[in-house]
Amino acid sequence: MDSWKLLPHPKIEKKGQRLAVVVLDGWGEHSPDQFNAIHVAATPTMDSLKQGAPDRWRLIKAHGPAVGLPTEDDMGNSEVGHNALGAGRIYEQGAKLVDSAIASGKIFQGEGFKYIKEAFPNGTLHLIGLLSDGGVHSRFDQLQGLLRGSAANGAKKIRVHILTDGRDVLDGSSVGFVEQLEKDLQDLRNQGVDALIASGGGRMYVTMDRYENDWNVVKRGWDAQVLGEAPNRFRSALEALHKLKAENPKKVNDQYYPPFVIVDESGKAVGPIRDGDAVVTFNFRADRMIMAAKAFEYEDFNKFDRVRFPRIRYAGMLQYDGELKLPKHYLVSPPQIERTSGEYFVHNGIRTFACSETVKFGHVTFFWNGNRSGLFSEALEEYIEIPSDQGISFNQKPRMKAKEIGEKARDAILSGKFDVVRVNLPNGDMVGHTGDIKATITACEAADSAVKMILNAVQQVGGIYIVTADHGNAEDMVKRSKTGEPINDANGNVQILTSHTCWPVPVAVGGPGLAKTIRFRKDLPGAGIANVAATTMNLLGFEAPEDYEPSLIEVADG
Ligand code: 3PG
Ligand code: CO
Repeated sequence: MDSWKLLPHPKIEKKGQRLAVVVLDGWGEHSPDQFNAIHVAATPTMDSLKQGAPDRWRLIKAHGPAVGLPTEDDMGNSEVGHNALGAGRIYEQGAKLVDSAIASGKIFQGEGFKYIKEAFPNGTLHLIGLLSDGGVHSRFDQLQGLLRGSAANGAKKIRVHILTDGRDVLDGSSVGFVEQLEKDLQDLRNQGVDALIASGGGRMYVTMDRYENDWNVVKRGWDAQVLGEAPNRFRSALEALHKLKAENPKKVNDQYYPPFVIVDESGKAVGPIRDGDAVVTFNFRADRMIMAAKAFEYEDFNKFDRVRFPRIRYAGMLQYDGELKLPKHYLVSPPQIERTSGEYFVHNGIRTFACSETVKFGHVTFFWNGNRSGLFSEALEEYIEIPSDQGISFNQKPRMKAKEIGEKARDAILSGKFDVVRVNLPNGDMVGHTGDIKATITACEAADSAVKMILNAVQQVGGIYIVTADHGNAEDMVKRSKTGEPINDANGNVQILTSHTCWPVPVAVGGPGLAKTIRFRKDLPGAGIANVAATTMNLLGFEAPEDYEPSLIEVADG
């Protein structure tokens, strides 16, 4: 038998259902107060879906072990969230795989580390990545493990190129991370390893662009890290952080520090990347490292003028793109996500349309398909990317491209060319990350209007919808104490939370094509977003594969 063939559902007939799958990025459920931007916003569409509880609206988990993260304290994120939504199963994710590889020491015995180790006798080891304990792209303790292990394995000269966070952790926390890193590097120097911070910059302005939104971001990183060139030159990273902020307190924050290089007493950069060196990008998450990985790895490259292309040994913490095999060398094997719902769909003749704007386009395609670029089938699938606004912080244009995404989805539904129309609406997340509550309220209203447009189209064609989210963000924008009280900073201002949250997310099903007897099961109280994939298969009239997390719906008698 063709193992890709999905069996017909015993109770839900397959009769050409048209299904809209809507993912609101960064849209969790939390108690209503002034820091809950979703609550403050006028969101009539999402509110009306909530009226369907408990049969047609419920909450599901989107953080911690429910999405393959190490602990219940790990907030969800779009990578693991879309992986779970698309694959219907829970995979141990990068954060956990790297933890295990460091704890067991296997990371230092693997092919990737052996490859870079060849450079240690004569070259410098450069570590580039996000300095953060957010656990979304990287984790500080993993960097510490890598530093210690590299020194123990013969690295004599190490340069760290830091990217400050303020997006998965509190703004301003970069100073504490740098202070700790300086202590760790001092320890290494005491052991005879020449270890220093060599350059830095804020993650949103230097290196960590994604989905080719703006190559200038990667170029700024390249210039500082490889060429040792940046407009700002300091004797230490702490001095850089303090002075750059003091010069421009309104514009500069952890996410947006301009690039800087660290120089010695004669003004020379202490750590440009040169022939014979080794480079490790220590982020485990792919989306914001793929562009830099291409710059380090590809001989043929025309995205910006690299000026110098050093002959280096380059490895990623993980392999970032399994399809492109990028990078060739990596320290830890990524999760092997296979048999995703999208792949099943093409094997079962289901026609799929997927759309978002640039900043989330890869989420609803690449992450959804198990970290795989491209289409499964040109004949059956169409993916549309709407260009995101460039060079702005999204609180300046909080409506983003919600309307355009809604229109594309609407047209795809009405065209009759697709069985599944899948979109990601980024507003709650992208604007939530700016920490601007007022703008986030507008963002949520824009996303809600787009949902309305999509549900109207579903109504017109007699279709079905499933509306959910990948993780929380906009529903809680303040740092809270264990008892839930907002926490103030030293100046008495509330500490704004720019990161994701651990709150659950809603899921709603409905539409004229949904039989009256279909409702959410009550026996899966701990279900998470990985249960959504099987649900979509059921909604289309198929049984889900046995190893998928169970479907959220059942057919009531009568
Ligand atoms: C980012 O990369 O923007 C944040 O670190 C995580 O946000 P995302 O998981 O929603 O993309
Ligand atoms: Co986010």
